[in-house]
Amino acid sequence: MNVRATHTADATTVEEGLAIQEAQAVVDSRGATEVAMQNTLLTPRFYTTDFDALDAIDVSPVRKDWDALIAQMVADPNKGHFRKNEDWDHIDWDGMEPGLRKEFIDFLISSCTAEFSGCVLYKEMKRRGNNADVTQLFQLMARDEARHAGFINDALREAGVAVNLGFLTQKKKYTYFRPKFIYYATYLSEKIGYARYITIYRHLEKHPEHRFHPIFKWFREWCNDEFSHGEAFALLMKTDPKLTSGVNVWWIKFFLTAVYATMYVRDHQRPAFHAALGVDPDWYAREVFEKTSALSRQIFPITVDIDNPRWWKNCKALSEANVDLAAALEQGGAAGAAKAAVARARAARAFLALLAIPAHRHEVPESTRMEPCY
Ligand SMILES: [Fe+2]
Ligand SMILES: [Fe+2]
Repeated sequence: MNVRATHTADATTVEEGLAIQEAQAVVDSRGATEVAMQNTLLTPRFYTTDFDALDAIDVSPVRKDWDALIAQMVADPNKGHFRKNEDWDHIDWDGMEPGLRKEFIDFLISSCTAEFSGCVLYKEMKRRGNNADVTQLFQLMARDEARHAGFINDALREAGVAVNLGFLTQKKKYTYFRPKFIYYATYLSEKIGYARYITIYRHLEKHPEHRFHPIFKWFREWCNDEFSHGEAFALLMKTDPKLTSGVNVWWIKFFLTAVYATMYVRDHQRPAFHAALGVDPDWYAREVFEKTSALSRQIFPITVDIDNPRWWKNCKALSEANVDLAAALEQGGAAGAAKAAVARARAARAFLALLAIPAHRHEVPESTRMEPCY
């Protein structure tokens, strides 16, 4: 399903076109949609929450910053951005090295699912709410994420695959998160998304010979959308000081660690993709963590200590445990199950070791607002 309607031809052609597209989708998308349906610790999930609690938020304490941000989003600077134009180079998917092709498609499917997961959540908040401020924000964010997911799906379609977004909406499992967990997780995923996109964009600006697909040219404007979404969640959290103090600081540390560790593990599973980009995954992880930490100081009173040697040692241990876990699950049988149990215990130990590293504390600024600076 294409989330953006782009057809302008007459009705018969459109219907015929859609029929062909659907027939192809059944053949081509099954694998991609199955991947997107997976719910493991590492795959993007769909979330649901207590929408009434969200609806009760009063943004008066941050009104000035709020209105400025909303006005910027209403102006919609990226309105025409997510369309293929003459910068969209032709890609020889069949000629692509098979290892790279597999990892790149996996990257696109996972990105599309993550973008669409934001779209589904934001749209639901808009639908269920009555609070004019909150519903307006979520409508604007759902608009952006639908464009992002649709654009990635368009890119995938050229490779003969498409994620069936309609099917996902109906059939993918929804994970319930309390509102505060939604704030921490979504805020971080928006800001880390910004940091990831801009780091790749800046790297490829310097090394255009590594830009093996045109979609990377779209990343700069794209990441500004994610930046604004992160700003919105920072303001939502700012309305209630309890969210970023007391026992909740522990939860913030948990989410910072989980989001960073997940990115590390996931990226280290794609060596061919990173080699093609000319990016060392360890360098990339450090760049992204540093940027995300610098940004998240706007609202979180702590940052995780990525300069601690135990940080990298345990990220690596977690990543290796995950590789072994995948191999054990693939092997199956009693031997595979035993190996999987060992790998899970190693992963848990590494994650607890990451959590045990003392965090850096700092003063949070009076106003959260920031502008993209990377
Ligand atoms: Fe997005
Ligand atoms: Fe976003």
